[in-house]
Amino acid sequence: MVNSEMDLNGAPMLEVRDLIVTYEAQRGTFLKRVEQVHAVKGVSFKVRRGMTMGLVGESGSGKSTIGKAILRLAPIAGGSIFYEGQEVSSLDENAFLPYRKKIQTIFQDPYASMNPRLTVASIVAEPLIVHAKEMTKSQREERVADLLEKVGLPADSMNRYPHQFSGGQRQRICVARALSSSPEFIICDECVSALDVSVQAQIVNLLQDIQDELGITYLFIAHDLAVVEHFCQEALVMELGEIVEQGPTDALYRSPQHPYTQRLLDAVPRMPTIVGAK
Ligand SMILES: Nc1ncnc2c1ncn2[C@@H]1O[C@H](COP(=O)(O)OP(=O)(O)OP(=O)(O)O)[C@@H](O)[C@H]1O
Ligand SMILES: [Mg+2]
Repeated sequence: MVNSEMDLNGAPMLEVRDLIVTYEAQRGTFLKRVEQVHAVKGVSFKVRRGMTMGLVGESGSGKSTIGKAILRLAPIAGGSIFYEGQEVSSLDENAFLPYRKKIQTIFQDPYASMNPRLTVASIVAEPLIVHAKEMTKSQREERVADLLEKVGLPADSMNRYPHQFSGGQRQRICVARALSSSPEFIICDECVSALDVSVQAQIVNLLQDIQDELGITYLFIAHDLAVVEHFCQEALVMELGEIVEQGPTDALYRSPQHPYTQRLLDAVPRMPTIVGAK
């Protein structure tokens, strides 16, 4: 089901059109058999600037694969991806580089996505070294200090290491790192799923505040429908590589049209703690 209201409020920042992603997986006793895994089977959607689009579905339904395809980290077998009207899925690596600065990701497991031997200052500055080569060391330090303040971490966090923080604080470091290259679009791939409920609420509120201040657009991947309901204006529901339903979250939750959405809603307990985050 495609909701026609999605396009009424402006041109899409991101458009995914008929996307097909097929992995080649080695199977069999000596991994000699190559099997095709049809992870995404012709998916289309649009994300407007400044909005938060939810992407939900069971494990293995293809959510992360869509995020990776947007960043060209998954084998695109068909379809196109447009960023602000520019077809980006067929660009070569050099031509795609500016988009790597504009599109950042925050992953589920902050510890796994950080080098434990680097200080927080180095971790947060990583994208700056790639995307803002003109910055001096002291400019970078100043930017890192600003970012740490923005995500609610004390200034003395700079010279500490990831293991010296709680899970929620580590996710704040990842948010700061994602923000450091001044992105326009952030893919949050299960970025609050590993956190306990009260910390989830804090991180979601932080993402919301950042969006209000900087106008960032989010693709928010989650299997927890309660978080999506409170944080996202619209959502896409994925099953086995296909979008089975999409539309404004309010309508989706009030009257799900597809039995799979209904099943997902029935399976998840409601979480009353995140109130007014949207
Ligand atoms: N690199 C890969 N090689 C082969 N198959 C893969 C690869 N990555 C993902 N897949 C397969 O593609 C399908 C979709 O995977 P994907 O990680 O996109 O699902 P997901 O919806 O993000 O799941 P989860 O909620 O568990 O994170 C799955 O069947 C998965 O096994
Ligand atoms: Mg995933």
